[in-house]
Amino acid sequence: EINFFFPQQKTLAVIKPDAMEQHRESILEEIHGRGFSVTQLKEMVLSREMAEEIYKEHKEKPFFDQLVEFMCRGPCLMLILTKENAVEEWRDMMGPTDPDQAKVTSPNSLRARFASDILHNSVHGSSNEQHAKEKIQFIFGDISSDAELEGDRETDR
Ligand code: PPS
Repeated sequence: EINFFFPQQKTLAVIKPDAMEQHRESILEEIHGRGFSVTQLKEMVLSREMAEEIYKEHKEKPFFDQLVEFMCRGPCLMLILTKENAVEEWRDMMGPTDPDQAKVTSPNSLRARFASDILHNSVHGSSNEQHAKEKIQFIFGDISSDAELEGDRETDR
């Protein structure tokens, strides 16, 4: 059923290196089960420069170098997820940054189930729509023509 009132939104989701071997299929299944469309996906090993760009908002944080290094250590799966309210819904699905907290407050979340600690926390999601647009553009380039292929048609005109 097409919803004419709530626009489709895109977010960037990343399956991080720690979750790629063991949990990738479960995470993808759950993404589909929750009604997201995977508009694009790309498996890649991030370069240091790419990881730094993706996390540039956290450049001053004490864990920045660790985080960048971890994100480059093996393949990641980069996904564009499309749904109404996608940014917030994907963050809900991920759960809190720290899996120890996630286990308490959101035991069904991906991080509660699949993450091992605050650094190796299995998945990433854009924190807001502006970041989503920027990071999607950075990783996938110009995707404006995809609107023709995916569910955007009703809401973009
Ligand atoms: S913020 O702005 O600090 O509140 O943002 P937050 O979403 O909590 O964290 C931003 C990303 O940094 C990672 N992170 C950490 N990595 C290592 N050690 C520590 N202590 C730590 N704290 C936060 C966190 O996983 C976030 O990465 P993404 O990929 O966005 O989840």
